[in-house]
Amino acid sequence: MIAIGCDHAAYGFKTLIIDHLREKGYEVKDFGTFDAEKKVDYPDFAFEVANAVASHECEKGILICGTGIGMSIAANKVKGIRCAHCSDTFSARATRQHNDANILAMGERTLGPGLALDIVDIFLTTEFSGDERHVRRLQKISDYEDKK
Ligand code: RB5
Repeated sequence: MIAIGCDHAAYGFKTLIIDHLREKGYEVKDFGTFDAEKKVDYPDFAFEVANAVASHECEKGILICGTGIGMSIAANKVKGIRCAHCSDTFSARATRQHNDANILAMGERTLGPGLALDIVDIFLTTEFSGDERHVRRLQKISDYEDKK
C-alpha cells in the first residue's frame, strides 16, 4: 500500500500520480487534501502520511506540495522516516539504493508531469542495496534519533 498526500498547491499532481499508480496495479491510500481551492497547511498531510509509513500501515509514501520542500522537512520529523526530496531520476534511484528512503517528496511547481511520474516509478521499483556501508550510515541516523 502506498500512502499519498498533498496540499492545495499539488492537488493536480496527486490525482495524476494516483491514477498512474492504480493503473499499474498499486494499492493507494489517499490522505488528502481533497480540494485544490481551499488553502491548507502541508504539515498536516505530511504527518498523516509519515505516520502511516512509520507504523508500517503503508509500505512507502509520496508527498507533494508546491516545492516538495515543506513536506520533506515535516515528514523527516517523524521517527523512522527517511523522506527524500527529488527533482531528478538519478536522485530517486540513489536515495532508494543508498538511503533506503521510505517517502518521496516532490514539487508540482518545480516539475513537469512526465518527469514526476518517472521519478515515482523509479522510487517505487528500486531496491535498497543493503551494502554494509549504507546500512552502517543509516544505523547512525537511527541511533541519533533514538538518543533524542
Ligand atoms: C504553499 O503555498 C506552499 O508554500 C507549499 O505548497 C510548499 O511549497 C511548501 O514547502
